[in-house]
Amino acid sequence: MDSVNLPNLPDFMALSESQRCEYIRDFAVLYAQQYTREQLDELCRLADAARKLHKNAEGSDMMARLLRNRLVLNFFVQPSSRTFLSFNAAQTILGMRRMSVRDVKISSMSKGESFADSIRTFLSYVDLIVMRHPDAESGAEAFWISMNAHRRLRVMGGERPIPIVSGGSGTKQHPTQSLLDVYTLQKSFERTEGIDGKKIMLVGDLKRGRTVRSLSYMMKNYKDVELFFAAPEKYQMADDICTFLDEVHIPFHKIDSIDEAITDVDAIYMTRIQDEWNKDKGGNQGHEKAHDDFIFQKKHLDMMKDECYLLHPLPKRDEIDPDIDYINDHRVVYWRQERNGMWMRVAIIAKLFGVDQEILAATDRLC
Ligand code: NCD
Repeated sequence: MDSVNLPNLPDFMALSESQRCEYIRDFAVLYAQQYTREQLDELCRLADAARKLHKNAEGSDMMARLLRNRLVLNFFVQPSSRTFLSFNAAQTILGMRRMSVRDVKISSMSKGESFADSIRTFLSYVDLIVMRHPDAESGAEAFWISMNAHRRLRVMGGERPIPIVSGGSGTKQHPTQSLLDVYTLQKSFERTEGIDGKKIMLVGDLKRGRTVRSLSYMMKNYKDVELFFAAPEKYQMADDICTFLDEVHIPFHKIDSIDEAITDVDAIYMTRIQDEWNKDKGGNQGHEKAHDDFIFQKKHLDMMKDECYLLHPLPKRDEIDPDIDYINDHRVVYWRQERNGMWMRVAIIAKLFGVDQEILAATDRLC
């Protein structure tokens, strides 16, 4: 392994996400900013190849042997359906053995063990940790611990730390979601030359939605992209993302309704109100309702372009008219997006363990 001189833990944690990326490199998946255009294109190609290869009996058997000696822990201590299941499905496709911890109440953390000691323990047993945690900083801490732990993996003829992959951290980042979102956008725009030059509207709770934050960061890799942030004032995109977009010269516009930009944009990315983060949960009966101006209705299908696509990371509530789920319209892609997640996660794991070339070569040979 290239030597990485990591600062001590407090100094590392004092760094910004972008500064941490210099140490993270390709050892872990924590922040959307760590990706270059080349890496994104490569992962999308790999996801496509794995998808194709899996349709071939010999190909799927071959993939299921690739990582059969590797053991993964899915450490998900926040609610999850898609991310947890699609990671599990992806790991199965690659033949990995899997374990999960989904509730700290039944782990030794409930006996007062520190987060650091728990991670150190996990690292003694497994070759990969995928984690979802309410604390946005926990992924960085786990990465630091892994970099400094004694155990190393032999991968690609060298030694590597056990990779930590974020499956969503607090309200801040969800890098693997934005990788699958980029994959979905790229596939949708196949006929119209990809993501470069596209106008993308993000709708809903942009302030606390980690998916839209990570996706905004990832847009730095595409030329002439323009973003529209449609949200009620209290849920508008946070200043740190706006400052980042200014720095990388991505124009963005804060708008007050879907209607304001719908005829002009090439993609609409809906999100739900993230009310699990509401401080005052007291009198709140059930979930907060989306405001009419930010609900995607059937009329919007008539207003959007013929090559405009409707995405949602899911889960959704009332921000999309449920009738749209079963409308046969090539522009409604959120169910396909969900399945794309599994293939993108196959690609992410294959890349981390250096079996990507085997997948590409077998695809060329068998498909
Ligand atoms: C998202 C998440 O967990 O941030 N879900 C997902 O991973 N697909 C979006 C959400 O919960 O609203």
